[in-house]
Amino acid sequence: MKIAILKERRENERRVAATPDSVKRLMALGFDIVVETGAGESSSFSDQDYKDVGADIGADASATADDADIVLKVQRPLLAGEGEIDELSLIKSGAYLIAMLAPYTTKEAIDAYAAAGVNAMAMELMPRISRAQGMDVLSSQSNLAGYKAVVDAANHFGRAMPMMMTAAGTIAPARVLVMGAGVAGLQAIATAKRMGAIVSATDVRPVAKEQVESLGGKFVMVESDETEDAETAGGYAKEMSDEYKAKQAELVAATIATQDIAICTALIPGRPAPMLISKAMVESMRPGSIIFDMAAETGGNCELTVPGETIVHNGVTIIGYLNVPSHLAVDASSLYARNLVNFLSPHVDEETKEFAFNMEDETVTGILLTSGGKIVHPQFVGEGE
Ligand code: NAI
Repeated sequence: MKIAILKERRENERRVAATPDSVKRLMALGFDIVVETGAGESSSFSDQDYKDVGADIGADASATADDADIVLKVQRPLLAGEGEIDELSLIKSGAYLIAMLAPYTTKEAIDAYAAAGVNAMAMELMPRISRAQGMDVLSSQSNLAGYKAVVDAANHFGRAMPMMMTAAGTIAPARVLVMGAGVAGLQAIATAKRMGAIVSATDVRPVAKEQVESLGGKFVMVESDETEDAETAGGYAKEMSDEYKAKQAELVAATIATQDIAICTALIPGRPAPMLISKAMVESMRPGSIIFDMAAETGGNCELTVPGETIVHNGVTIIGYLNVPSHLAVDASSLYARNLVNFLSPHVDEETKEFAFNMEDETVTGILLTSGGKIVHPQFVGEGE
């Protein structure tokens, strides 16, 4: 059974869906692997690195995808008119396309996968069950992004993070506020603490309190009965009421003026990111303060964020990187590639090395968007077929 690894062609994407290590593991499971030439280059993996572990190198995307049963990608394939080539057209009907397909924001692409007869699987939809933790791409990528956000915010900050007592005087520690204490937020808290900052964090899920405190952060949150119901069965946040949002805005306004760095990680799956820092709040911050808005891609947690840009407003730097994990392409690729191996491996028969997805496994049904020319995922059925 042939697996193809295509080079990523979308803007701002430096990751790759397989590393020499993951190729080795996939080959041990019985797969044949073809890696498109140059696919690993921006993650520092050369064609030779892949060849050394036994992969074939495809001369271009078409030769690589030719007759592949499974195509592994980081981002969704380019469709006709979206870029230099139509990647989807290279994938044979009946093949599995496994990637971060951004299904909530690209509904027209789901129709295209169905029309192409491709079995499209969106790794972001992986159920949050303990068995699937090693397959959870949102966690593996967010964790790195949370770290990188703090490092880059510190890099833009014209002051030190820790308290320093020197012969020339004492430097006060930086104050960091982390908005959203999920996977990225908790790593941001841990990183900022390690760098010596005084850290506080906020979330709408009360369960985050203990996690923030266990990392040495101070938890600030709006007290309301509504928060008891703020978490979905999958562990994600829900959108809050207007009344809650108004109370939360008061709390953020009272807190943010005393902070040096805000790391924004608050997201609601399938919805625009909650707007938590208004223009007036930015203007209440001291010049030299930094806002790193990791939610930039889905609208941003700060009103002034410009996606893909770093701007300065009244002396406050607002960083709106797109695709933060791609800034740590080597590690992000390694963890993503392992997520994919962990996802595929339970479906290989240990003795015969035959591969077939167990269609009763919720890790498969939970992420399968299209099959047999139709949209099959319950969340997307009827979305424009
Ligand atoms: P996410 O990336 O969707 O959201 C980030 C954070 O923003 C969340 O903590 C969310 O509660 C928070 N948020 C949303 N709206 C907000 C608002 N208005 N104000 C402040 N904060 C807001 O979520 P993420 O980080 O992917 O996961 C959330 C939780 O899911 C984790 O903390 C964990 O408990 C659970 N989880 C479970 C896994 C498993 O069992 N396999 C794997 C990973 C996470």
